[in-house]
Amino acid sequence: MQIHPTIAGLRAALAGAGRVAFVPTMGNLHDGHIALMREARRHADVVVASIFVNRLQFGPREDFDKYPRTFADDCARLTDAGVDHLFAPDETEMYPAPQRYHVEPEPAQVSILEGAVRPGHFRGVATVVLKLFNIVQPQVALFGKKDYQQLMVLTNMTRELALPIRIVPGETIRAADGLALSSRNGYLSAAERAEAPRLFAQLSRIRERLQAGERDLARMEADAVAELAAHGWQPDYIAIRRRSDLQVPEGDEPLVVLAAARLGSTRLIDNLEL
Ligand code: PAF
Repeated sequence: MQIHPTIAGLRAALAGAGRVAFVPTMGNLHDGHIALMREARRHADVVVASIFVNRLQFGPREDFDKYPRTFADDCARLTDAGVDHLFAPDETEMYPAPQRYHVEPEPAQVSILEGAVRPGHFRGVATVVLKLFNIVQPQVALFGKKDYQQLMVLTNMTRELALPIRIVPGETIRAADGLALSSRNGYLSAAERAEAPRLFAQLSRIRERLQAGERDLARMEADAVAELAAHGWQPDYIAIRRRSDLQVPEGDEPLVVLAAARLGSTRLIDNLEL
């Protein structure tokens, strides 16, 4: 695998390289990322990953400084997964001057769920991803469904700005006990790690209740919130939404339940298509 710290170096290496599939990451890679890398290989001749912890998408009281940086391990995993090129810029390469131009997603998409709890987060994500797309110029880009709202925002951005890129979603990869893999799982203490599968268990419980014919969505959301709170969680939201735009469902539409909750000082998110 070739490692490129500069935009010029990456562009030179990719000139005439053929069809490119791109997987942007912030590093601290787990099996979910690696599944995306392997999936990327099915779509293109050349697989490019990036590692960049993007300051723009972190709020002032969030974990930018302590976000785990595990570059050597990440490189070993990417090499093992057959990735051809890694773009790994530092901050001065990506933001040599304060970023003055941003992608501003429509408020209806980003004032809800994660966007309501993390104001400005999706503006930072969309801005860096558009910039990475311009740097890498892939034909295909892959994002995990675990960040369901992020996937929606980036899919819509790509379509509405007519970027010639196909967005491919990757399924959430879970530990045997159901916990969705996440770079932030490493923050959990042993006791919290043992408790953490309850989040997915509550989402699964909602799916079972829907399949059994229950239709009171607010009741199911409230029950899941209460169950988590009773076990020491601080839930931000458990929300059953329509998949297409994550708004409150109005009829018989494909649904997804999305959740975010804090366990100790760690904030976990998850979702399940219903
Ligand atoms: O999902 C992530 O890791 C980040 O939000 C992304 C897409 C790499 C942008 O920084």
